[in-house]
Amino acid sequence: MIDALAIAPGAVHLKHYLSDKEQRIVAAECLELGARDAGFYTPIVRGGHPMSVRMLCLGRHWNARTYSYEETRSDIDGLPAPVLPEHLEGLARSAANEAGFTFAPDTCIVNWYRAASRMGLHQDKDESPQSIAEGAPVLSLSIGDTARFLFGGLRRRAPVQKILLESGDAFVFGGAARLRYHGVTRIEPGTAPPGLGFEGRLNLTFRKY
Ligand code: SIN
Ligand code: MN
Repeated sequence: MIDALAIAPGAVHLKHYLSDKEQRIVAAECLELGARDAGFYTPIVRGGHPMSVRMLCLGRHWNARTYSYEETRSDIDGLPAPVLPEHLEGLARSAANEAGFTFAPDTCIVNWYRAASRMGLHQDKDESPQSIAEGAPVLSLSIGDTARFLFGGLRRRAPVQKILLESGDAFVFGGAARLRYHGVTRIEPGTAPPGLGFEGRLNLTFRKY
């Protein structure tokens, strides 16, 4: 049985959503894609600072300098963003359905966290105005080390809920929760299940551009 926790209207935490086997398959798929041309890279944000995660964008590329999506990696190497594999798209679609959303994602950002990686509090608002207006969800899958995830409100200073995202968890925020602030304060090294084949944490966020 799937353990679905209602976090806020439009936000659902599906604990232990992916089986160990699915986690290994998804991790292997990301690592394999990430090792090819147009694979993992370190994004440099507009102030010129590197992000602490490595990133791999599938379907569409998110440009860290312009905070916008594009077909090719114009801030990295000019290569086209790799195609979003059907298998991953299907997993995201099913997880979102489980949380009550109909979802057809076309874009996935894979963030690879190491021991010192963080993600500051932010809103996901670079998708198309139509997608945001519809409240099309952001669906996240976590694999590897546990993350201390913050889920806040519609203003940066609103109170935040502290949530542990463990390996295999899915987290969905759409509808009224679509523009809530969120971030990762730290990951807990050494908490991943054995046999995943990588160090740290992979987080996949699926969106409909
Ligand atoms: C993100 O907001 O882009 C990533 C969230 C996470 O790593 O869980
Ligand atoms: Mn985000």
